[in-house]
Amino acid sequence: MSTPEMIIVETHGAVGLIRLNRPASLNALCDQLVQELGAQLLAFDADPAIGAIVLTGNEKAFAAGADIKEMKSRTFPAVIFDDFIGNHWETVLRVKKPVIAAVAGFALGGGCELAMMCDMIVAAETAKFGQPEINLGVMPGAGGTQRLTRAVGKSKAMDMILTARMMDAAEAERSNLVSRVFPAETLVDEALKIGAKLATLSPVALAMAKTSVNRAYEQTLTEGVKTERSLFLSLFGTPDQIEGMNAFAEKRKPTFQR
Ligand code: HXC
Repeated sequence: MSTPEMIIVETHGAVGLIRLNRPASLNALCDQLVQELGAQLLAFDADPAIGAIVLTGNEKAFAAGADIKEMKSRTFPAVIFDDFIGNHWETVLRVKKPVIAAVAGFALGGGCELAMMCDMIVAAETAKFGQPEINLGVMPGAGGTQRLTRAVGKSKAMDMILTARMMDAAEAERSNLVSRVFPAETLVDEALKIGAKLATLSPVALAMAKTSVNRAYEQTLTEGVKTERSLFLSLFGTPDQIEGMNAFAEKRKPTFQR
């Protein structure tokens, strides 16, 4: 993999940190950035030394959306044949390890959609979420109408998508779009702490648990519970189940397989 130019990659113990880094355009998601991000997500996923991933931007923006200046000249045949969005935007959905979006500043359009593809969103008090594509004569195209609606409900999703109104961090937490809110100065450290905790846990149990939660979006309750049951039962075929339960009974810390 060539050295990325639009992301900064760090490791903090067993947590991989990716910082989107196009500050002059508020981390607008151009093709190169999206490709570099996807490649790094897959690299961390394949690295046994990494147990969780944090994705962040900078204090002004997580990402202000797809790069409008790049996108404006796309044509219908090109977006179809290049598989715009399908090609690279959704790589994060293929990652088996937990991915935490740490959002400060703007998370707009494709930036909000990228954050919502992660397993959880933590936000700085400065965060602003929005789907302003309507202002550009288009609409959300990377899952926004679906994931935002499932997160915050129809009325707020319609409000944001039809009027382009932004939601601040307090409203986003109240509306269940984000799981926790921190002061901007501590956001990344707090996200790394969550990642560090996750990295001590059983990778296979985490992967099954996130698969099962994600299925809640895709299936009826009955089907979802069936999926959960079979994933839960399958974990009884793993060494981590034996280790985790023995460690509890023996009053010691478990050592899970990496
Ligand atoms: C390209 C962008 C950009 C974007 C900001 N910039 N957002 N460039 N694509 N999405 C650039 C600006 O052109 C400017 O560059 C620089 O970043 C700073 O932005 P300003 O507008 O000067 O900053 P500010 O006044 O603070 O306003 C911030 C803002 C505004 C409210 C976030 O930039 C804005 O409205 N941006 C567009 C947000 C948006 O519509 N996102 C949805 C995109 S569509 P210069 O060179 O002029 O200084 C989308 C579709 C996804 O995401 C579908 C799936 C792929």
